[in-house]
Amino acid sequence: IGHPRGSFRILVTGGTGLVGRAIQKVVADGEGRPDEEWLFVSSKDADLTSAAETKALFEKHKPTHVVHLAAMVGGLFKNIRCNLDFWRRNVHINDNVLHSAYECGVQKVVSCLSTCIFPDKTTYPIDETMIHNGPPHSSNFGYSYAKRMIDVQNRGYFEQHGCRFTAVIPTNIFGPHDNFNIEDGHVLPGLIHKVYLAKQSGSALTVWGTGKPRRQFIYSLDLARLFLWVLREYEEVEPIILSVGEEDEVSIKEAADAIVEAMDFKGELIFDTTKADGQFKKTASNAKLRRYLPGFQFTPFKQAVQETCAWFSANYGSARK
Ligand SMILES: NC(=O)c1ccc[n+]([C@@H]2O[C@H](COP(=O)([O-])OP(=O)(O)OC[C@H]3O[C@@H](n4cnc5c(N)ncnc54)[C@H](OP(=O)(O)O)[C@@H]3O)[C@@H](O)[C@H]2O)c1
Repeated sequence: IGHPRGSFRILVTGGTGLVGRAIQKVVADGEGRPDEEWLFVSSKDADLTSAAETKALFEKHKPTHVVHLAAMVGGLFKNIRCNLDFWRRNVHINDNVLHSAYECGVQKVVSCLSTCIFPDKTTYPIDETMIHNGPPHSSNFGYSYAKRMIDVQNRGYFEQHGCRFTAVIPTNIFGPHDNFNIEDGHVLPGLIHKVYLAKQSGSALTVWGTGKPRRQFIYSLDLARLFLWVLREYEEVEPIILSVGEEDEVSIKEAADAIVEAMDFKGELIFDTTKADGQFKKTASNAKLRRYLPGFQFTPFKQAVQETCAWFSANYGSARK
């Protein structure tokens, strides 16, 4: 998609999703470099669960670098329903992308793990060395084990073939172009959608679960800027956690309050404690990131929530929901 031809041809799988759109915006807003050509692809360009379609995509574009975002993604309730599908689809997508990248001589691949794949029983904060230390939370074991295998493959491609394939580990991501589906999406966009509807109908806001679980949220546009740094500068095969600090972790109730404030919702908040809470917390350390980038500025949570709510309200008709 429309950037000058350069010496770096960067193929972004999942280029139409929450993170892909954020990278598109950051690149278009001036962070892209003249010697970089960015190609953002979606499932319409190739179904990456198919080895043949993935190979054809790589042969067509001949990328030098890959940002691998494509995945079957969903919130707690979709994960609980579809663990097998999350495992199979993601394992196929990841194996096809990494092996096509190897066969096409791609210089670097940056894939995407998630802090929700870490062991359920663990000490806190979680860091990059702990990915494989124990079983993940039972609600999303399919997604988690599939993601963990990316790290296994990266190690294998490095040891056997010397490939620079690495991965980042973001915490909960949110921002414009998220999936705002209430049943299947993540907690923050789901809550934004619910507040929007509750405001329109004048009804109460029902938050699923107790509101007590704690999460570190990262704004998609901050994550996009960090992705560019990892692609250009980060040399390790071992993954790196991309997160706000431990002190910036918020409860689901605090996240709901920020949305209520941003959308000026005046109604009542109800917590439906018959719904699952998911993992209580997964506090991650960003010490490794801070060693590399001590001065990186994250957008304040409330400001990022405000921007996302404003985007959703302005794009209600076309937003994924
Ligand atoms: N959202 C979070 O909170 C979060 C947190 C940690 C890590 N992550 C990871 O971050 C990455 C990006 O997530 P996201 O939230 O941006 O996801 P998203 O908004 O759901 O977008 C998913 C992207 O993957 C593509 N895709 C899905 N299945 C595909 C297939 N079979 N073939 C080709 N493309 C396919 C989609 O293409 P279509 O639009 O054509 O369907 C879309 O572009 C994922 O690897 C995810 O696991 C997300």
